[in-house]
Amino acid sequence: MCGIIAYIGHRDATPLVLNGLKRLEYRGYDSSGIAVLNGNLQLLKRKGKIKDLELALEGTHMPGKVSIGHTRWATHGEPNDINAHPHISSDGKIAMVHNGIIENYDVIRKELLTKGYTLESETDTEVLLKFIESIKQENHFDLEEAVRIALKWVVGTYVIVLIDQERPNTLIAARKGSPLVVGIGDDEYFMASDALPIVDHTRDVVYINDYELVIIEEGELILKNLGNERKTPLIEKLDLEIAAIEKGGYEHFMLKEIYQQPDTIRDCFRGRITEESSSIQIRGIEDHLDKFVSARRIIMIGCGTSWHASLVAEYIFEDLCRIPVEVDYASEFRYRNPILDSNDIIFAISQSGETADTIVALEKAKEQNAFLFGIVNVVGSSISRITHAGTYTHSGPEIGVASTKAFTGQLAVLYMIALKVGLEKQLLSQKKYSELLSQLQSVPKKIETIFETQINNISSIAEKYCQSQNCLYLGRGYQFPIALEGALKLKEISYIHAEGYPAAEMKHGPIALIEDNVPVIFIALKNDECYEKIMSNIQEIKARRGKVIGIITEGDSRTKKILDEYIEIPECDPVISPLLTVVPLQFLAYYMGTKKGIDVDKPRNLAKSVTVE
Ligand code: M6R
Repeated sequence: MCGIIAYIGHRDATPLVLNGLKRLEYRGYDSSGIAVLNGNLQLLKRKGKIKDLELALEGTHMPGKVSIGHTRWATHGEPNDINAHPHISSDGKIAMVHNGIIENYDVIRKELLTKGYTLESETDTEVLLKFIESIKQENHFDLEEAVRIALKWVVGTYVIVLIDQERPNTLIAARKGSPLVVGIGDDEYFMASDALPIVDHTRDVVYINDYELVIIEEGELILKNLGNERKTPLIEKLDLEIAAIEKGGYEHFMLKEIYQQPDTIRDCFRGRITEESSSIQIRGIEDHLDKFVSARRIIMIGCGTSWHASLVAEYIFEDLCRIPVEVDYASEFRYRNPILDSNDIIFAISQSGETADTIVALEKAKEQNAFLFGIVNVVGSSISRITHAGTYTHSGPEIGVASTKAFTGQLAVLYMIALKVGLEKQLLSQKKYSELLSQLQSVPKKIETIFETQINNISSIAEKYCQSQNCLYLGRGYQFPIALEGALKLKEISYIHAEGYPAAEMKHGPIALIEDNVPVIFIALKNDECYEKIMSNIQEIKARRGKVIGIITEGDSRTKKILDEYIEIPECDPVISPLLTVVPLQFLAYYMGTKKGIDVDKPRNLAKSVTVE
């Protein structure tokens, strides 16, 4: 989604902001722009990629030490140069970038038109800027005051950053519902939607909260609430290496991130599974163990891939902890009037920790006194701060739009929590607990075996089927959510229509789609309790001349015989197996997408961090 970067200091701001925009590219965008103060207010915007903006900048001199930049993911108005940010006030003196959605923009727009304002773009952002300008002019306020008053009228979400020709040494920003981080350097400040453009310059950051206003003026950072009261900024240290946000020799971030999984899973276990592998210690859980043990119900919420992790968790927690689990799309949960109380635990699962649907769902649950637990990858993100407790997945920055290592990180955390609670509730014997724990710890090695033995095979399968128009993904039990995840990955980065189903549901409808050009991907593990039934489901497809690709247990010669293609994975306890079965499906999607020539890191229309509802 939209990305913001701003700079104020002693350096040439334009190249710095441009590089910041490149760091934000992964969030997904369709146009970009920069404004700089240098006595005048200079502006440059382009539809398309950052390189289009960069090309335009080559022939433009834009000096200045104060600048704002933006990558736009269109909401109001198509992607073009005019709708791109920054937007400029009617008097040409103020520039503003915005991330979020102003829900009452139409009412404000009509009021502005009545007052004689003209609007160049179709955006809610220009409406907000001119609303601020009208308040400033009509009341003879300075910009800061006008921003504060305007935001009291605004319904929706925003991060805004403004520069003003009349206050040439000032950056003003405010936040509600979209992320904003301020970086503090030597006599210079940065503002950005996330820490990635900041880590190149400094590790000292302040995470801005909702309803806060930041003014950086004459080298000082002033933090206020919308009531104009000063607050003390909390300076935190970024724990992020620059190498972690670069491709490191891989063709795509997605490929790098798939290959990182043995290490990211090990990192997730590190310090949590004790050296002698006898116990699990997770701080976020230790402090609230009694709540987990006595929980009446767990409700898992998330979106996309994180929702799939929640679905796997439903099986895990019901099996190992005997706690009833409900799983809901965060976007649906919020609007279905849920019935909650303090005995319910809400798990919010999110890679970015900034997904607007998940955040509003949490706010709803908080109102009803539920205990909120976050499983989040991005340290310091909004969800990590609004939940009562939580655990980081420690998967490192995930740049590819298609979530891969974050998903296995989420599962790794969920397994550890379920094992811990299951043991504490005495539902798991010490023997079973130790067996599962050791299976869990063997996962990274087994993923490495998949890397060593299956990559060429998966790439050839992708070559054969990448021109397909439709695909079906089928699995049962623990593999059903993995079928959904495999189908989502394929859709996102190859633009092939794919559906995931529980294998048994096939005969209730999807079987009508079967013909010889519709590949069906089955997850059919030998030690699955439904193995025989899955074999019958495969036969049903074969009888209709469908092509079947199987994810199977290494050495399972019986299944191999009836398949058109197969990908073997090492044997694993069925409970833990989703951590393995998802890996070949990630590769399959990756190769199908790249063989079609798609930029899998930035597939069309998608955003990495979905900060609007
Ligand atoms: O950051 P989150 O985990 O909350 O994001 C949720 C979804 O937007 C995300 O998983 C999305 O579906 C990915 N593109 C999947 O690959």
